[in-house]
Amino acid sequence: MMKRFNIAVIAGDGIGPEVIAEGKKVFDGIAKMDGNFSVTFEDFPWGCEYYLKTGEMMPADGLDILKAFDAVYLGAVGYPGVPDHISLGGLLLQIRRGFDEYINLRPVRLLKGAPCPLADVSIDDINMIVVRENSEGEYANVGAHLYPGTEREMALQTGVFSRHGCERVIRYAYELARRENRSLTSISKGNALRYSMVFWDEIFAEIGREYPDVETHSLLVDAASMFFVKDPKRFEIVVTSNLFGDILTDLGAAIAGGMGLAAGANLNPERKYPSMFEPIHGSAPDIAGQGIANPLASIWSISQMLDFLGEKVWAERVLSAIETLLVERRTLTPDLGGSAKTSEIGAAILEILER
Ligand code: NAD
Ligand code: IPM
Ligand code: MN
Repeated sequence: MMKRFNIAVIAGDGIGPEVIAEGKKVFDGIAKMDGNFSVTFEDFPWGCEYYLKTGEMMPADGLDILKAFDAVYLGAVGYPGVPDHISLGGLLLQIRRGFDEYINLRPVRLLKGAPCPLADVSIDDINMIVVRENSEGEYANVGAHLYPGTEREMALQTGVFSRHGCERVIRYAYELARRENRSLTSISKGNALRYSMVFWDEIFAEIGREYPDVETHSLLVDAASMFFVKDPKRFEIVVTSNLFGDILTDLGAAIAGGMGLAAGANLNPERKYPSMFEPIHGSAPDIAGQGIANPLASIWSISQMLDFLGEKVWAERVLSAIETLLVERRTLTPDLGGSAKTSEIGAAILEILER
């Protein structure tokens, strides 16, 4: 029986639709080449324009609609004209939380041919997987804005670090480190955040006792940021909180080819809900509509999606096709020093895959 993958697509705002179109082309082309599975995409027009028309970022039953799909493919959310906390809170973060996508898997890997601003590093020196907590922590939607417009005005934003939430992401990272026989570094900030991060550190040590075979390191996030630049080789598997993972993976993108090459998977490992695949970059209003955005991060997300859907060989092939594209330098977008349009990249990747 032919397998069929049903993918919900939320291209979103700004460069979202431009880069997502290329990822779809790649998945479509692969399904045709393979012949043993097919893919169908259903597009949802949710995002900032939808908000300006309807007053909401997605319909009230949006999650119910998405639930039926094998995966969600998302471009970017957020655009000038709609406050970011409304657009992101009403769509992207709703999906991550609502579908309990508590693992955010973000490879920071310097591919062959990708530019790197650091001196004296080779591709072997930047090859890590950041496991970012993706359901609570600093992003827990808990807080208050009190006494607005008065002298007593204040804002409270509470971090939520539950034992359940910390244990599951830390355990996931230990399992990954064990499976790949790589070291595991926890990044936190227990010296200043004496409740949440001390708790995190304790749980990291506690669970570590079940994994005596895994080499571990603990770093404070400030020092870790410095080492991302000065000595990225020391990082293999990294586990960290929601906010630190957000910030560190933009830094990771900067050292590993740029925002146009950084992908992320929002996983619900139990598969109770669909997982969501997206580039880590935003809607890039500064270049939106010009057809010059780099869609390789979105295409890398397709590789992550294929991997999660069980098509591991294709997942690997897509990644090596991206590498070939980078090495050959014939069809690259301006951020990578080329003059190709976004819309040429999907076909170029397929041409490499067909060789
Ligand atoms: P951004 O990631 O959109 O852009 C940062 C810089 O990187 C810009 O100079 C942009 O041109 C460049 N860039 C990003 N992606 C690129 C690509 N594929 N190719 C070439 N260059 C690329 O971050 P920002 O400007 O801080 O945010 C813009 C909007 O996107 C905001 O509304 C923000 O909240 C939102 N955002 C959404 C997501 C998401 O949907 N996952 C992620 C980050 C930011
Ligand atoms: C990301 C983004 C989001 C995050 C924003 C847009 C809420 O920056 O996916 O990295 O902080 O998680
Ligand atoms: Mn981010």
